[in-house]
Amino acid sequence: MQVKGAVMRKLIAGMKTSLDGKIEGTDGMADWVHAWSDDYGLTPQIDACLLGGGMYPGYEGYWTGIQNEPEKPAWITDSAPTPAELEWARFAAKTPHYVLSRSLTSARWPNTSFVRGLDEIEALKQQPGKDIYLVGGARTTASLIEAGLVDELRLLVYPLIAGEGKALFGTTARRRALELRKSEQLPDGRVRLVYGIS
Ligand SMILES: NC(=O)c1ccc[n+]([C@@H]2O[C@H](COP(=O)([O-])OP(=O)(O)OC[C@H]3O[C@@H](n4cnc5c(N)ncnc54)[C@H](OP(=O)(O)O)[C@@H]3O)[C@@H](O)[C@H]2O)c1
Repeated sequence: MQVKGAVMRKLIAGMKTSLDGKIEGTDGMADWVHAWSDDYGLTPQIDACLLGGGMYPGYEGYWTGIQNEPEKPAWITDSAPTPAELEWARFAAKTPHYVLSRSLTSARWPNTSFVRGLDEIEALKQQPGKDIYLVGGARTTASLIEAGLVDELRLLVYPLIAGEGKALFGTTARRRALELRKSEQLPDGRVRLVYGIS
């Protein structure tokens, strides 16, 4: 139950996307992304992660690999984990993860639990705590924005037209205005965008 007068935790989505809004190519990989760390500056302000059932098994496998063998090339990027990825691997290991799924029932990580519907996400936001990071994937992020549950969207836009692939907003039906809060050009041509969603 929410304490009267308490500020509700924000749900903040972070996604790495091409200029044409693709979050992965036709092979199921975003090979233009060289590290899957939190590059949105979220880590200090969050204490929980929320993910869709579609991405959770791959996410768990990727970060378990880095946690167990930090010196080896990581699956997906095929490169040694970056310092920021090692930092996220450590943070993820001790941080509760919530997976939105009606079909998944088990996870290898002891800190992972399942939410079965949007009302449970609403309840999670009302619990005391820091903000919650919505890690993905596309359908979950788009549908939670559509449901009015996401407070902020942080995008890293890569300088690339990906062509065919999975669109971040491929399942969105309705128009929604966003408030641009911050934009920043990174030295490698990526652009960091922060939008408020009301
Ligand atoms: N570029 C990036 O920054 C980035 C970040 C994260 C992920 N990704 C990519 O995103 C891909 C996964 O995205 P995805 O769209 O296929 O799957 P997803 O969003 O991870 O998961 C979708 C699943 O979530 C569950 N779900 C339950 N209620 C839902 C609701 N109201 N709305 C939406 N989903 C609901 C359903 O699982 P059940 O059928 O079990 O109920 C549904 O099949 C991965 O391949 C990953 O690589 C990219």
